[in-house]
Amino acid sequence: MNKKLIVANWKMNLAMHESSLYLHKLAKAVPVKRNVEVVLAPSTFTLQSLSLQINRRQFKLAAQNFYWRDSGAFTGEVSIAQLRGIVNYGLVGHSERRHIFNETDKDIRAKVQAAVRSKIDPILCVGETLFDRAEGETRDVLVDQLVGGLANITAEEAKNCVIAYEPVWAIGSGETASPSDVESAVKIIRQQLRELFNAKIAKEVRVIYGGSVDAESAGAFLDTPGVDGLIIGGASLKLDQFVAIVGRAANTK
Ligand code: PGA
Repeated sequence: MNKKLIVANWKMNLAMHESSLYLHKLAKAVPVKRNVEVVLAPSTFTLQSLSLQINRRQFKLAAQNFYWRDSGAFTGEVSIAQLRGIVNYGLVGHSERRHIFNETDKDIRAKVQAAVRSKIDPILCVGETLFDRAEGETRDVLVDQLVGGLANITAEEAKNCVIAYEPVWAIGSGETASPSDVESAVKIIRQQLRELFNAKIAKEVRVIYGGSVDAESAGAFLDTPGVDGLIIGGASLKLDQFVAIVGRAANTK
């Protein structure tokens, strides 16, 4: 059975009490299904409290961001080592981190390694801008971001990474890539994983799609060959939408 991975990226939304209330409602509405893994990525400051509230068979938690050092004089930062026991996943290289906070491939690589060191699975986000796409550079961008992010890890460590294909122009824009675009991007990603590691890793690593997915479009992506799940931003904050997406994932053959 192919287990689908559905990641909810709440971004910088919901105060503590709102997160807790929303989780309470989600817990009632989202069925626990053996063939779907549901991961919530709330704001960092809510993680600990939500980790006490969740049923871990129903939901796992992900950090939206973290610093790559494990500890030290880094005022204002939170390390992934500090989040051990609280999160199972850490987002790395999200386009908002790359573009708004100028994270480089070097930062991203260090974060992937830090997550791996702490036995937390990195979800490495990659994707081209509209400009890259217009210039016909989608393949080069994906290859560069994969090499940049994964260069320092072993095949054994890569096995637990998740790659999220998120075209920058589709994030929060209401515009999705077409399923055939996603299928070709996922092929490029798997080819590159094969180059970097081996054929087994290329096949086994989970590759998910994100970018304006909602309850209506989710099915087409879940049915796209090579796609193991979805990362949802805006629609993950709407109870009915998110519940429908998880339900659709549970019904995917
Ligand atoms: P979106 O965000 O679904 O709102 O486009 C996706 C993401 O940023 O992960």
